[in-house]
Amino acid sequence: MSAASAPRDPERYLTDNHRLWQQWTPLKAASAHYDLDGFRAGGNRMRQLEQDEVGPVEGRTLLHLQSHVGLDTLSWARLGARVTGVDFSSRAVEIATSLAADVAPDARFVESDVLRLPEVLTGTWDIVYTSNGVLGWLPDLRGWARVVAHFLAPGGFLYLFEGHPAAWMLDNTLLEPELRLRYSYFGEPEPLSFEYHSPTSVPEARIPDVEYVWGHTLGDLVTALAEAGLRVEFLHEWPFVGWRMLPFMEEGRDGWWRLPDTLPALPLSFSLRAAKPAEPWEPAKPAASAEPAGP
Ligand SMILES: C[S@@+](CC[C@H](N)C(=O)[O-])C[C@H]1O[C@@H](n2cnc3c(N)ncnc32)[C@H](O)[C@@H]1O
Repeated sequence: MSAASAPRDPERYLTDNHRLWQQWTPLKAASAHYDLDGFRAGGNRMRQLEQDEVGPVEGRTLLHLQSHVGLDTLSWARLGARVTGVDFSSRAVEIATSLAADVAPDARFVESDVLRLPEVLTGTWDIVYTSNGVLGWLPDLRGWARVVAHFLAPGGFLYLFEGHPAAWMLDNTLLEPELRLRYSYFGEPEPLSFEYHSPTSVPEARIPDVEYVWGHTLGDLVTALAEAGLRVEFLHEWPFVGWRMLPFMEEGRDGWWRLPDTLPALPLSFSLRAAKPAEPWEPAKPAASAEPAGP
């Protein structure tokens, strides 16, 4: 989606996506892959790369957008952050709240659509964190960037780790290693729809449903953040991703999924940090030229 275009009527898609997550969440949470009891007993699910890029969180406040069942949120809490998680699935919030009672009783989880969060939550946070399968669910990236800026304390920062929009272009139905472009890089106001028979982490569950996702380019993202008054500190692109994005990807011992060596390297994920300046600032506007540019 171009940063300049507005979505038409996202409400009906959001209602369908909400129903999907209400169904998927308890199934995922009960899966061996999530291992909630193991997490209760101890350990940390936050990858070292993200810990290194975010830096020390001890004593800092952290707002986790699209916190799902709270595993990442509570991992940050175990590293010393004072955390608040937000998700629009009441089932995700219930599971996260119950986990928090055992892991980090001060953690708080709020049920809300991200784009409507300022209607139900007040305060500011040192860090806004969000990761791994989040932006595609949002019809309005500029609105999201304004929400992020709204909840950041001056001097605070956003940290985002996400699947790379170039990788979302690839045909994800091919079982043999091959890179074939299937989807446009540029999103549209109308989302793409995908039919599923089960969530990826619970293939044995049979719940046919449809998800709606919006494409956002890296340019849309950086522009939306700049317009919201944030200053991008880094944008790193990585040849690995946190989940099996394509069927033939291989999981390394480090837990990252990569393309087989026979294929050229592509950016599969990216990480971005953007700060809210301690003093408010206006991004520079391009100077209007009095004369039309020459040939
Ligand atoms: C792929 S999961 C994120 C996974 C998370 N990073 C983790 O590893 O636990 C996406 C989450 O976004 C939530 N979600 C989707 N659309 C949303 C919206 N508009 N507002 C708030 N939460 C939303 C879903 O309920 C789901 O929990």
